[in-house]
Amino acid sequence: MVVEVCPPEELPPGTMRLVPAGSLTLGVYNCAGAIHAIEDRCSHDDGPLCEGEWEPELCVVVCPRHGSRFDLETGIPLTLPAFESVPVFAVVERDGMLVVELPD
Ligand code: FES
Repeated sequence: MVVEVCPPEELPPGTMRLVPAGSLTLGVYNCAGAIHAIEDRCSHDDGPLCEGEWEPELCVVVCPRHGSRFDLETGIPLTLPAFESVPVFAVVERDGMLVVELPD
């Protein structure tokens, strides 16, 4: 399944957007020019991970529910209470559009 995000110019450094992707929602982030996509669901208690704060300079998202911090590149939690990773997905540019390819 190919999910269209937006043209690259609509996601400048320091910005993010939520993107519906079938049964999932993805948070797509521009960390100083590096684009990362992570599932909008915290591994701790299924919280809406991407609806809280994030730290563009560190490329870290902070779960709004209990405050776990996750590396946006790897999905690995950096602080408790979460201890399992959140799925991350590669973002590529194709025909002037950022897209995410999800496994079927
Ligand atoms: S739901 Fe995210 S830290 Fe608890």
